[in-house]
Amino acid sequence: MSPSEKATRRWDEERAQPSHNATDTLAKTPAMPSETYQQSFDSYRNYVGSEDRYDLIGAMQFDLMVRLGLREQHALLDIGCGSLRSGRLFIPYLLPGNYCGIEPNDWLIESGIQENLGRSIQAVKRPRFDHNDTFDLTVFGQPFDFLIAQSIFSHTSPVQTEACMRSARTIMTATSIFAATYFEGDESYTGDKWVYPGCVTYRKDDMRRMVEEAGLAFKYVDHFHPNGQQWFIAYDTAPLDGPTLHDDPGPFVGHLDDQAQTYPDVLTVWGWAAEANHAREGVDILILNEDGHLMARTTTNVRRDDVVEAFGQNAPTHAGWRASFGTALLNPGRHAFRAYAVDAAAENAYCLGVIKVKVTD
Ligand SMILES: C[S@@+](CC[C@H](N)C(=O)[O-])C[C@H]1O[C@@H](n2cnc3c(N)ncnc32)[C@H](O)[C@@H]1O
Repeated sequence: MSPSEKATRRWDEERAQPSHNATDTLAKTPAMPSETYQQSFDSYRNYVGSEDRYDLIGAMQFDLMVRLGLREQHALLDIGCGSLRSGRLFIPYLLPGNYCGIEPNDWLIESGIQENLGRSIQAVKRPRFDHNDTFDLTVFGQPFDFLIAQSIFSHTSPVQTEACMRSARTIMTATSIFAATYFEGDESYTGDKWVYPGCVTYRKDDMRRMVEEAGLAFKYVDHFHPNGQQWFIAYDTAPLDGPTLHDDPGPFVGHLDDQAQTYPDVLTVWGWAAEANHAREGVDILILNEDGHLMARTTTNVRRDDVVEAFGQNAPTHAGWRASFGTALLNPGRHAFRAYAVDAAAENAYCLGVIKVKVTD
């Protein structure tokens, strides 16, 4: 993107924000034309940004997270969830109890539920909220598969950004993905305060450093943002620290049957597995990439009549398994994914098969 395009996009983000609150950082960006509409910041919609894009900014987040692999069974943490601009899509999509939001301004959540979702959603989907402003992401006492912070690091001080990343690391598993936006700039904000409604910028190397210092990998994601913010993901890349891996099926019979692209950038792989004595339902399955990093984990819980037919009455009826994951954290090129079945003591994992997939940019 050329500097002039960037400037235009930056102005777009800020045109909905009053100049009297402009910060030093904001003052470096193009001035706000006087004819732009007034924004009162008293509505649940315009408090979080430009009202005319309220729907699209929510849709952008939902679309990205599904592209990253979000499925209904996953747990999602929405950091700075505001008035549920995206929550109004995530909450109905996810299974009950799987959406959590942190938002210090509780009136935003109240209005979002009242105006967009309706109170009945609380009984049906049981979203949970916390109002801390210290970026304590541990408050729900559970890990999350996906985390999102949309237009949060466009306002945080470095200390807040680092605190958020450190806390995120503690509630992320080997397969969790944290997606966030920020304004990339030539200078990094060095103040110690949350800036709002003005915006702050960070240099890419500073944002990368803050993510990596928290023990996570950092990668840009090419996903359109109408306000010119940059999406990135933070995630774990370490090889699986767990059972001893074996190249043979050991005490299991089973297979990695096939794979298919089930959404842009999302792969679903499937197969079946059973212990040779067919005794156990619910075998744990791991999908690893060629670096030994865990891409997905699941259990045998899909009905497979063909397995029962082949192995007789004593075979588990639910020997099938399915696992899906986003490919965003992989570099373009050929990748080999292996499926392993884990023994009951979780000490050994045995290979059921390998599948080769080409990941495109
Ligand atoms: C630009 S809005 C983005 C809201 C939401 N992520 C969205 O996309 O609609 C920034 C939000 O961060 C919230 N916020 C302010 N301080 C915060 C903090 N310390 N921790 C989490 N969120 C905070 C604000 O109240 C506001 O709702």
